[in-house]
Formats: sequence, C-alpha cells, structure tokens
Amino acid sequence: MRVCVIGTGYVGLVTGACLAHIGHQVICVDNNEEKVKLMKAGQSPIFEPGLSEIMQFAIQNEQIEFTTDIAAGVAHGEILFIAVGTPSLPTGESDMRYVEAVAREIGAHLNGGYKVIVNKSTVPIGSGDWVRMIVLDGITERQKPLVTAGGGTTSQRVFEIEAKFDVVSNPEFLREGSAVYDTFNPDRIVLGSNSPRALAMMQELYAPIVKRQYATDPFLPPVPVVMTDINSAEMIKYAANAFLATKISFINEVANICDRVGADISQVAKGIGLDSRIGSRFLQAGVGWGGSCFPKDVSALIHTADDYGYEAHLLKAAVSVNQRQRLIAIEKLQQVLKILKGKTVGLLGLTFKPDTDDMRDAPALNLIEHLNRLGTKVKAYDPVVSQTGIRHGLCGVQVETDPERLADGCDALVLVTEWQQFRNLDYSRMARLMNNPVIIDGRNFLEREELQQAGFYYLGVGR
Ligand SMILES: NC(=O)c1ccc[n+]([C@@H]2O[C@H](COP(=O)([O-])OP(=O)(O)OC[C@H]3O[C@@H](n4cnc5c(N)ncnc54)[C@H](O)[C@@H]3O)[C@@H](O)[C@H]2O)c1
Repeated sequence: MRVCVIGTGYVGLVTGACLAHIGHQVICVDNNEEKVKLMKAGQSPIFEPGLSEIMQFAIQNEQIEFTTDIAAGVAHGEILFIAVGTPSLPTGESDMRYVEAVAREIGAHLNGGYKVIVNKSTVPIGSGDWVRMIVLDGITERQKPLVTAGGGTTSQRVFEIEAKFDVVSNPEFLREGSAVYDTFNPDRIVLGSNSPRALAMMQELYAPIVKRQYATDPFLPPVPVVMTDINSAEMIKYAANAFLATKISFINEVANICDRVGADISQVAKGIGLDSRIGSRFLQAGVGWGGSCFPKDVSALIHTADDYGYEAHLLKAAVSVNQRQRLIAIEKLQQVLKILKGKTVGLLGLTFKPDTDDMRDAPALNLIEHLNRLGTKVKAYDPVVSQTGIRHGLCGVQVETDPERLADGCDALVLVTEWQQFRNLDYSRMARLMNNPVIIDGRNFLEREELQQAGFYYLGVGR
C-alpha cells in the first residue's frame, strides 16, 4: 500500500521504516531539513537499536523516501500517518499545534482518491473529530480561489472531498530502546473509527504484522486487533500509560516504606509479581518515571478529566509520588555525605531509560538541577550521550568520556539509568579513584555484595 508518515521522530521514523520493510511504499515527511538530509543518506537521526539497518534495507529496495515536501507525501499516500510531537503545555494539557499544522496542510493538499488519515500521535480524547474539522478547514481555505475561478460552491466541493477521507485513531505503544522489535511484535494493535472502509484498509496495512510474518516467534497466535470507536481508542493509549506510571509509583511508595521497616523491595516485588493478577513487570523501584510519554500523558489525562468535571485523585497521587521519588537519591546522598555543598557527585547514565538517546523529562535532569542548587559539582557518563557528544541542551554537568574518568575525584556515584554495560564496569578500580567510594543504586540494578567487595558503600532504593 502507499503510505505517507508525517513527522519522523521516535514513532514516525520507526513506523515508516517498519512499514517499508514489510513491503509498503512509504514516503516519510519531516519539516526538519537536517533530519531529512541524514535520513536520505541512510542515517537515523535518533539512536534506536536496529533502526539504521532496516532504513538502509528499505532505501536500497526503493521502498522508502524522505522529503520535506508534504504535498508530495499527501499525493502519494492512501494512508497518511500524523506522527508529530504532542508535548505538554505548562498547564499539563497537550500542545496540539504540530498536529493542527499538519492536519491543515493535509487539507490544503488533499486530492485524488479516498484517503485514511491516521492519528498516530498521542492526542487528547476527541481529537479524531477535531482533526477532521481542521482538515476540512484546510480544504475550505484552498477552495476559496477555486470557487470564483471555476464555479460551484465551496460547500459542494468540501462535501465531495469530505466523502473521500476518514480519520482513524491508531495509538502507538512502542518503547524507545526496543521500538523496532515492538513494531514487529506488538501486544495488540488498536484501531478506532466508525468507517468500515478505513478499518479495512488499516487491517490490510498491518496484515503481515498481525500474521506474525516478521515476528521473532512466528508461531505465536495472531496479534490481537482491538477495533473500536475513535474516543475509546484515544483513551486506551492514555489509560495504558497512566496505569504503567501508577504501577511504578505504587512500587516506589512500597519501597520507601521498605526502607523504613527494613524489608527488601526486590523480594517484595518478586513475591507480589508472581501473582498472575499483578504480574512482575513495571515493579522495579527506583528514581521514578520520566521520558517523553508517561509524564505528559498522565498530565494530559488529569487535565482532560478536569475539563469534564472530574478530579483524578489517583493519577494526581501517582504524579506526586513520582516527583518526590525523583529526588530520593539526594536524600540518600545527604544521609551518607551529610553536606553536599562542595562535594562532587557522578551520575552513571543520563537518558531516561537505557538503549535510547532521549533525554526528555529524564530523572537525571531533576537530579542535576537540585545538586547544582545545593552547590554540588555534577559529572556524568552515559554510553550514548558521552559517545555522540550531543549535549541535548544539558547544563550544569560535566560529561565524561568513560566511567573511570567519571569516578575520578567523586564523593559518590548515583546510578540513574540501568544501561546493561554498567553491570560489568571495573568497580574496584573506580572505587580507588574516588574520594569516597559511595554508590547510590537508583535502579536497584547492581549486586550489592559485588559492589561491597569492590570497596563501595552501597545504598539501593527500598533494599
Ligand atoms: N517516543 C515514544 O516512545 C512514543 C511512544 C508512543 C507514542 N508516542 C507519541 O507519538 C508522537 C510522536 O512522538 P515522538 O517521540 O516520535 O516525537 P519526536 O519529537 O521525536 O518527533 C516528532 C517529529 O515531527 C516533526 N514535525 C513537527 N512538525 C512537523 C510538521 N509540521 N511537518 C512535518 N514534520 C513535523 C519533527 O521535526 C520531529 O522530527 C507523540 O504524540 C508521542 O506522545 C511517542
């Protein structure tokens, strides 16, 4: 099928490259010329395992193109994905200006046969109808000069084109760091629309994935497809992220109680996670959730509830537990070092999770800001940030090129991101390079005994 993906970030580029990989003809549109230049050359502008390889494969097979020309993308696609960012406004609601701009442009260029416009971006409930309205506005604006030139009324022409497109909600659940894997091996695909024609086209698009033709385990049963109304599809995305964020806040709250009563949260999480009603995932206590999705999506849902006269007490509590949790490492540093002014603290990891270069709303940013405020010098080592040299607007932190340079002269280390390679560092050597061999394991990721043998004073979260 002919597909156009507008917005080539973590979601759009992965979606475009994976759809090209399974045989669709894809045009990816982005208004960032630098990004488009890189992608045309087969380079991914983001760090995402496996992405460059499938991009290059699709380019060689002429299955994918990259452009800044949205008109060309809209003309090409039978299915048009909107995959631009929807960041938080200071009020907590979603900033829809990028979606609006794209919807208007789609309207301005919509032509030819029937098209399906897909909201892949995470958008507030009700956005399906809103996008439809903006597309129609875009069409109307374009029609104005035509009416005087060619006859016929604007409303007639809009009506003709209106019948030629539908809007579908198809929220995305991929995880940064395993986005390509997740796209080929989804837990489910959610499609929201009241148009049987649009739903049929979306089913055809995803058929190879649903049939597990590109799955790691092709013998699994087909991927469940949840077909529903557009509002429910939009709500499924928010409810999923709000649930996961709440689950993490829950285990962090229990960890804080464990710290006080002398229980071990790792054992507690294992004990409750074996209950099939609870499940073991998202029960790792630590320095809290962050990233480009959970904080903004939970805030947006709280805001939506508010708009409709409901106070989301549980979600607000999940946010407030998380805000406190993000500074738990500072409490622990003060417990051990007492005064932090004039001390040097080294952060192991900067990104909000391993295997990504995404720094949006990363817990490390709060830590850096607070440590700076307390007069502490902050150094950091991160496998991706240190190697690429891309600073992501970081300030107040000295980024080191390797873990030993990080340890050198530190009064304490804080493990912020559970990068796999942090399990195998030469901790004995690092301990010798430090002023005080103290480590706060902010993800309960390391083995306490091994660190103690290496000479560290070890503190985890709730252990
Ligand atoms: N990142 C994730 O893990 C993830 C997971 C699920 C859902 N989502 C949702 O998907 C959406 C996209 O997220 P992301 O992380 O990929 O965002 P991103 O910021 O990484 O990418 C957005 C892209 O859109 C481009 N863009 C902005 N305006 C444009 C325009 N007018 N025309 C063309 N391109 C334009 C930007 O240049 C950028 O490349 C968001 O709504 C997000 O909530 C993200």
